[in-house]
Amino acid sequence: MKNPFSYGNELGAGQLLDRKSELAQVERTIRDGRKLFMIGPRRFGKTSILKAAEERLRSENAIVLRFDATASPTLELLVSRIVSQAAKALSGEAKWVGEQLANFFSMVRPDVKFKPADGEWSVQFGIEREKRENPMFFVDALNGLEKLAATQPADRPVGLIIDEFQRVIELGGETIEFQIRAAIQQHSRVGYVFAGSKTRMLREMVSDHSRPFYNLGDITNIGPVPRADFSAFLTEKFSDAGYAASNAVVSRMLDLAQDVPYNVQALASHCWYRLIDEAASGEDGFTPEFVDETLALVVRQQDPTHEGMWGQLTTIQQRTLMSVVARDGKGLTSARVLAEVGRGASTIQDALQSMVNSEILREERSGRQVQYVFENPFFYHWVRLTAMQ
Ligand SMILES: Nc1ncnc2c1ncn2[C@@H]1O[C@H](COP(=O)(O)OP(=O)(O)OP(=O)(O)O)[C@@H](O)[C@H]1O
Ligand SMILES: [Mg+2]
Repeated sequence: MKNPFSYGNELGAGQLLDRKSELAQVERTIRDGRKLFMIGPRRFGKTSILKAAEERLRSENAIVLRFDATASPTLELLVSRIVSQAAKALSGEAKWVGEQLANFFSMVRPDVKFKPADGEWSVQFGIEREKRENPMFFVDALNGLEKLAATQPADRPVGLIIDEFQRVIELGGETIEFQIRAAIQQHSRVGYVFAGSKTRMLREMVSDHSRPFYNLGDITNIGPVPRADFSAFLTEKFSDAGYAASNAVVSRMLDLAQDVPYNVQALASHCWYRLIDEAASGEDGFTPEFVDETLALVVRQQDPTHEGMWGQLTTIQQRTLMSVVARDGKGLTSARVLAEVGRGASTIQDALQSMVNSEILREERSGRQVQYVFENPFFYHWVRLTAMQ
């Protein structure tokens, strides 16, 4: 029997739990030629939502180009992917598509050829190298896409989805934000969805009124998958394999995985293998303690990764992380914590900030209260079970 829990890959539309309104919002944005910023913590399922929306829109004949900006080390490569995916979507005779693209994207002067051997389109630019590194080069490609979209029938939406969008800003520097805004605020045919996980960086980008992306489009925050949906899914999948997962077992899985979808699926998957392999556990063996043991095994298996991450931290950062575990991430600059870590409030604040920047922690705000949460719940457990023992 195939393990029903899947993690680490982009899920298809049929495998997604919940997320109906998020999916509808992405689809609407592209159909109506609007702009959407999708912001959410690591491994909450952003890419899966984008992929599912892309699949659905494509099945309705839309042209959807989707990229992960971190997969492109330069803006030039990103632009060449935009042009080659556009060529693929236009599907027609190679020469004709090449000419069309040269026309739409005239500012970046692409030379587009179909390579039958690998079934891909290759793109070369007839523009000087320095210009290809300029943010305007990327913006010209967006203008080209709008031109392309304008030639399509009115019922054929065109969308550009850029995942890990913060990378575009890192590559293009400060000015690119202004240039992107100036261009796309005039676009009404292409729908744009920009997503990313550097939660604070993106949030500041769109909510600070002095920044160019302020009020440019809608913002959607991706939260956890509702517990009720995840519980029903876990119960059903274990029961299909002949294992009754009690409410206590399911709650323990969600608690330990801190409701992060990736970690829930990973923990469930390991439990599933253990149940199958150690058939010994039997009906009575599937207990919350069994889930605890499985988690400890997973964390131990990943020891080299966690150890490596821990080893890169300064002593102050390590002590601060232990306080995050001990205090549930709250009140970390209280007198007691300062005494435990043996440093002043500003030192701890710096340690926390640098761990937020390097995506070890993230900040959860509710009113004035800030809670520091581990991005990876399994690293949290490693610190708890190994470093703090
Ligand atoms: N709606 C969902 N239902 C069930 N599982 C989900 C859902 N969304 C995400 N997952 C689980 O989380 C994993 C990670 O999802 P995905 O890669 O889409 O997240 P992400 O937010 O893009 O992550 P990253 O920040 O690393 O880019 C999936 O492989 C799957 O196991
Ligand atoms: Mg992703």
